[in-house]
Amino acid sequence: MKLLITGASGLLGLNLTLEARNQHTVIGVDRQRLVNTPFELVNADLLDPGAVDSVFDAARPNWLIHCAALADLEACEADPSLARRLNADLPGELAAGCSKRGIRLVHLSTDSVFDGTKDGIYTESDLPNPPGVYSATKLQGEQNVLLTNPDAIIARVNFFGWSLSGTRSLSEFFFNNLSAGRRCNGFTDIWFCPMFVGDLAETLLRMLERGLSGLYHVVGSEALTKYDFGVRLARQFGYDERLVIPISIAESGLKARRSHNLRLSVHKLSTRLGSDIPGVSTGLQKFYTQFQQDYPQKMRSYQQV
Ligand SMILES: NC(=O)c1ccc[n+]([C@@H]2O[C@H](COP(=O)([O-])OP(=O)(O)OC[C@H]3O[C@@H](n4cnc5c(N)ncnc54)[C@H](OP(=O)(O)O)[C@@H]3O)[C@@H](O)[C@H]2O)c1
Repeated sequence: MKLLITGASGLLGLNLTLEARNQHTVIGVDRQRLVNTPFELVNADLLDPGAVDSVFDAARPNWLIHCAALADLEACEADPSLARRLNADLPGELAAGCSKRGIRLVHLSTDSVFDGTKDGIYTESDLPNPPGVYSATKLQGEQNVLLTNPDAIIARVNFFGWSLSGTRSLSEFFFNNLSAGRRCNGFTDIWFCPMFVGDLAETLLRMLERGLSGLYHVVGSEALTKYDFGVRLARQFGYDERLVIPISIAESGLKARRSHNLRLSVHKLSTRLGSDIPGVSTGLQKFYTQFQQDYPQKMRSYQQV
């Protein structure tokens, strides 16, 4: 298949393009952040007038995986208008373009559409109630996609891995601090279900190959706190886990409101795919194996300087 991936310089986009190129012809959309990639690039700022049509015409894909977004919660609070254009309007425009051209679409959304007040695990039939600008614009994006493209896959995700800058993910936050022997905070009151980005890339491709459509929670099968995630990462790398300081999100000084419970069920996904969904333990092992294989340096080598 010919696969177009937006946000190719992002945490998911870059890992996904590198994985997908093993089986498919891949074209990444980039804003001149990338060099020397082993896949083709189309340069575009997707908010420029006419950019969406130009990218479709240049790439002529069978499938689109839309990873580009304003995914920084604090940046969304600081510029709600940009957040709306990128996270809500653009997905609608891309979805309409896919419908018109017969392109299958995977749209990336977020676990944080939920306010976290449920006493239990969220399923796809639970009603979202986004707590901030990021999550509200992402939920609007889901709705805009389904309006014009009801066959699209909407994947609500949470993931970790190695990024182009080396600083994008929660796993890199813990790695960078722990490897330098620095203390770092881990929230004891935020529960989530992180998935290793390599597992996410494989899962998204399998969902397309299986012809799935509709809303799915595509997260790890294990729930833990952000503090526990830091401790588990420290153990995996052999770093001193006492450097991870347990604190409450209330003590963090972060402005954007975050949900305390982002435990999402993967039952629907697991049933439709007919297989188990990987958890955080195997994910952290794979993250560590990539480290041993100099994968972070490889990622960095694609960075435009
Ligand atoms: N990271 C997580 O754990 C997480 C959790 C839940 C949901 N998600 C969702 O998963 C998806 C991928 O997230 P991520 O963490 O990989 O994001 P990321 O690392 O922040 O990457 C965002 C990507 O979007 C691109 N982009 C932004 N504005 C653009 C524009 N105007 N035109 C073209 N490209 C533009 C960026 O390009 P530049 O490099 O040029 O800025 C970058 O490649 C997003 O939909 C996000 O909301 C992520």
